[in-house]
Amino acid sequence: MGRQLHLNVFINSRGHHEASWRHPDSSKLPLTDIDYTVDIARKAEAALFDSIFLADVLGLWNDVRATPFNWLEPITTLAATAMATKRIGMIGTCSTTYTEPYNLARQFASLDHISRGRIGWNIVTTWSHQAGANYGSAGQMPHADRYERAEEYMAVVNALWDSWADDAVVDDRDGGLYADPAKVHAINHKGQFYQVEGPLNIPRGPQGRPVFVQAGSSEAGRAFAARHAEAVFTAHMEKGTAKDFYSDLKGRLPAVGRKPEDVIILPGFSPILGSTEAEAQAYSEELNALADIQIGLTRLSGRFGGHDFSTLPLDQPLSPDDFPDPETVQAARSRTEVIIGVVRNERPTMRQLLAKLAGARGHFTFTGTPEQCADLLQDWFETGAADGFNIMPPVLPRSLEVFAAEVIPILQKRGLFRTEYTGTTLRENFGLSRPAA
Ligand SMILES: Cc1cc2nc3c(=O)[nH]c(=O)nc-3n(C[C@H](O)[C@H](O)[C@H](O)COP(=O)(O)O)c2cc1C
Repeated sequence: MGRQLHLNVFINSRGHHEASWRHPDSSKLPLTDIDYTVDIARKAEAALFDSIFLADVLGLWNDVRATPFNWLEPITTLAATAMATKRIGMIGTCSTTYTEPYNLARQFASLDHISRGRIGWNIVTTWSHQAGANYGSAGQMPHADRYERAEEYMAVVNALWDSWADDAVVDDRDGGLYADPAKVHAINHKGQFYQVEGPLNIPRGPQGRPVFVQAGSSEAGRAFAARHAEAVFTAHMEKGTAKDFYSDLKGRLPAVGRKPEDVIILPGFSPILGSTEAEAQAYSEELNALADIQIGLTRLSGRFGGHDFSTLPLDQPLSPDDFPDPETVQAARSRTEVIIGVVRNERPTMRQLLAKLAGARGHFTFTGTPEQCADLLQDWFETGAADGFNIMPPVLPRSLEVFAAEVIPILQKRGLFRTEYTGTTLRENFGLSRPAA
């Protein structure tokens, strides 16, 4: 068997297209209903996806008039979803900036036990400026400080997850020994930001620790990913930047004592499928017609730390000068670079840019037939742009169902995707080794 694609389903609102919640094909369930997530997870599992993923933003960053979200908090949601699935991995977002390491280590160790080894942690430093306002600090912490803190954070949580040896629990009823105290140790961490004595109050999970997923693509984000990540989500609107990112990140690994296969890179990919190109195009237009310019402007403003774009004309070509310098953006810096790259290369009008971003917020969007979709995925996979994809269905669950029924069989026929699960943990689905304690 040759190298295999890794596929994750990113669950967002009723789909990744901004207007999906209004489209008649999207789920009729309330977005606060756990059955919504469970149904998607089960469909993804039936299609043999490696994992599902839930984002998290720690504040009401979206305009509630017309931008709903999958509101349920990821940790509790994944605990419930774990009970309704068996093989699919589950990746939840949690912030290093706004969560105490002891809480996070404990919750993810619990999730790893609850799911029997299927948990991944999307490590974020949190880009939304609302989070700063909600968590008692004076505004948002600067980009560089967040990453510096995150570095120490990783040392603490790793030490906590390793504070129980794999074989610490003996559970010997006859001999009267539950756990061997020699195999449970304090960590005595005293650092610049954290003081944590340990040990953790829960035995080591089936995967040792959750799979580390990371999605920051700035210089600081990439350096962090090279040191810690095992899977990386990344946003690109063209193959060229995806290839540059792929080779840059893989190229950083030897210097930190890691091999290229220790990290899988999963660019976002949002497929609008039709049995003909014209049918797919019509579906795309149907969705765009439901999108709202004001909502798009608000979202764009959020990406640039609250910058006001409302004074710009909607129908004149934009220039990079219309945007703040990404170096000054304290929010999601790498995404601002992707957006400015599109403006530089394509000179869209604001209306055209917002339509482009409505599809998947700066990730790659594809419109075409299943065969063309499989060709594109294979091309990126075989020419150094991806190890797999973060599939972002534009309408949920409909676009996932279509991808599962029409694209996955083509990938399987080409020997690029599994025909059954061979592992039971997320680490095994991703082809990653288990860390020693
Ligand atoms: C697919 C994807 C999902 C992300 N999910 C989240 C999220 O749930 N919460 C969050 O705060 N940031 C999220 N981010 C943002 C990044 O984790 C990162 O914090 C942000 O891009 C800023 O870091 P950077 O400037 O290094 O890119 C996501 C990014 C990508 C590409």
